[in-house]
Amino acid sequence: MTNILVTGAGGQLGRQILKRAERAGVQVTGVTSAELDITDRDSVGAAVTPGSVVINCAAYTAVDAAETDEDRAFSVNAVGPANLAQACAEAGARLVHVSTDYVFDGTSDVPYRPGDPTAPRSAYGRTKLAGEHAVLDALPTATVVRTAWVYTGVGSDFVSTMRRFERERDTVRVVDDQVGSPTYSWDLAGGLLELAAANSPMPPILNLTNAGTASWFQLARAVFAGVGADPERVEPCSSAEFVRPAPRPSYSVLSPDAWSESGLTPLRDWRNALADALDAPVHVDR
Ligand SMILES: NC(=O)c1ccc[n+]([C@@H]2O[C@H](COP(=O)([O-])OP(=O)(O)OC[C@H]3O[C@@H](n4cnc5c(N)ncnc54)[C@H](OP(=O)(O)O)[C@@H]3O)[C@@H](O)[C@H]2O)c1
Repeated sequence: MTNILVTGAGGQLGRQILKRAERAGVQVTGVTSAELDITDRDSVGAAVTPGSVVINCAAYTAVDAAETDEDRAFSVNAVGPANLAQACAEAGARLVHVSTDYVFDGTSDVPYRPGDPTAPRSAYGRTKLAGEHAVLDALPTATVVRTAWVYTGVGSDFVSTMRRFERERDTVRVVDDQVGSPTYSWDLAGGLLELAAANSPMPPILNLTNAGTASWFQLARAVFAGVGADPERVEPCSSAEFVRPAPRPSYSVLSPDAWSESGLTPLRDWRNALADALDAPVHVDR
């Protein structure tokens, strides 16, 4: 059986991969940032074993902080993945590297396909794009998987925050001019495990999100409705009212076509996934 190593295993996605693998009886080893710092080349080299599959979930994900901390973000998002790709190349291992819609400028109005021109508008996006290039340069057989709008429904993620606001506030204003595909980390974890188990060659870049699209406003309304609250308590506003250090893409929808065409199972509609996230806390640390 193939060994699967998950880096960044203490994060949102890494934890879900470990739980989903355990549920499915799949042998996976997870290493947190304390156990394996992917920017440490020697440690990475020692951790990657021949014939294994590495799923890299480690990243610098503080999008706004990256604007003033780009060197550190580059180290984690580009140098670290380069180390992993190099180690995989030397060990004859596969690498699945998770990336982001932020590599695009978000000005499209049709779903981004893997080969579309990239044009990141933030430090986070630039460093993640550099990581994609570093991975594919060092290991052309690697697969970069771009995802977007990931939530679990715990901690400070968007869905969890809307649940909290529903309890604490009469009304909430949420931006209605950014569109994406809300993606449940549990579903994303399942797709990545399917990819890790696949034996056939895969394209260098794939997209993976739940199906369907929504604005943040529409997602917030769906959360309110999903917990039995009045969705009208969520009011739309524009991004101009919530200016943040890093610009957010207006359009983050990623085409699932290459994923499906590669024989992999597309993820279900985001509304069904959200219902599970709100109803089935067995998946997550509540
Ligand atoms: N969340 C989203 O909406 C979203 C959207 C698109 C793409 N993605 C991508 O999805 C992947 C997983 O994101 P996530 O949501 O799970 O993020 P997350 O919760 O922030 O997890 C990232 C993990 O990486 C770890 N890490 C940071 N620096 C490291 C290093 N030098 N060595 C090893 N581990 C390190 C962090 O550990 P510490 O906490 O100890 O620093 C953390 O556990 C990332 O590639 C991200 O870019 C996420």
